[in-house]
Amino acid sequence: MMDPQDGIPLHIVSPLKESLALSKLAGIQVLMKLENIQPVGSFKIRGIGHLCQKLAKEGFNKFVCSSGGNAGLAASYACSKLGVPAIIVVPESTTKPIIHKLQELGAEVVITGKVWDDADAYAHRLTEEPGSAYVSPFNHPLVWEGHSSLIFELKASLGNQKPGALVVAVGGGGLLAGLVEGLIKVGWSDVPIIAMETVGAHCLNAAIQAGKSVTLPDITSIAKCLGAKTVCDRALEYARKYKVISVTVDDRDAVQAVERFLEDELMLVEASCGAALAAVYSGHIQRLQKEGKLEPLLGPLIMIVCGGSAISLSELQKFKSQLGML
Ligand SMILES: Cc1ncc(COP(=O)(O)O)c(C=O)c1O
Repeated sequence: MMDPQDGIPLHIVSPLKESLALSKLAGIQVLMKLENIQPVGSFKIRGIGHLCQKLAKEGFNKFVCSSGGNAGLAASYACSKLGVPAIIVVPESTTKPIIHKLQELGAEVVITGKVWDDADAYAHRLTEEPGSAYVSPFNHPLVWEGHSSLIFELKASLGNQKPGALVVAVGGGGLLAGLVEGLIKVGWSDVPIIAMETVGAHCLNAAIQAGKSVTLPDITSIAKCLGAKTVCDRALEYARKYKVISVTVDDRDAVQAVERFLEDELMLVEASCGAALAAVYSGHIQRLQKEGKLEPLLGPLIMIVCGGSAISLSELQKFKSQLGML
């Protein structure tokens, strides 16, 4: 449970808002949990903020986080609020605007390695100094505990009504693990979760198919924020034990979902979030129901709009051109 002595949470209580466009497409009420309006643009501040607050309370005085973007932004923001220096280690694929945003938040940025896993190995080496703490972007019980706050808010908003299902994007699996923990805590552990990944960043799907943890040879998806080569063990354990339905979409589906969401809701989100939105825009909810993999929903479909800052109109155009969608 959250400890009130940790101080005021660094995240906000996000709105839960119906999307008429998504509801019409899904044939069921879709409520969006708008994590894109969190400080620094994604749900990440829930878990990372919580972890950083705890580490600061324990007396650590330098934080190192490895992140291709949103976790690093959340860690930099948390450190700036807590008055602790932050070093963010990012892979070479990280865009200039993100590096600039990290620096604006006062972080020292180190660029190394092709993908997140390489940057992460270096971040671990930097935390060998005494007083330094490693801030995991997704693989820590306090990160999951922080993310579970989303479910408490959902419970407060929905009251006695139970969600029919949740839709969530999966990278390293921290959000998924946190949501499952939240569902267990509020007595909703039978609520199905549709876990969305893009092909080329599909470490959870590959692990489920193989029946064991799998390390992808490379990250080939444009949804770099979903780009962990191996899903965390806790997420895989929960995916096996609870009602988690793994779905993959290709990059084109994710980008198309970003564009349609912009038109429908006037909000611009990352391709990582587009992967989740594609559950509706590419018809997967209805397909899963037809195939008998998802029971008829007795409550609203909760779309976790995880957000993300690694996007702009020009970046969206660039993705469309790369994927032959212009
Ligand atoms: C916008 C966005 N959505 C989803 C994810 C996936 O989260 P997780 O790594 O906790 O699975 C990330 C991870 O960075 C993200 O930035």
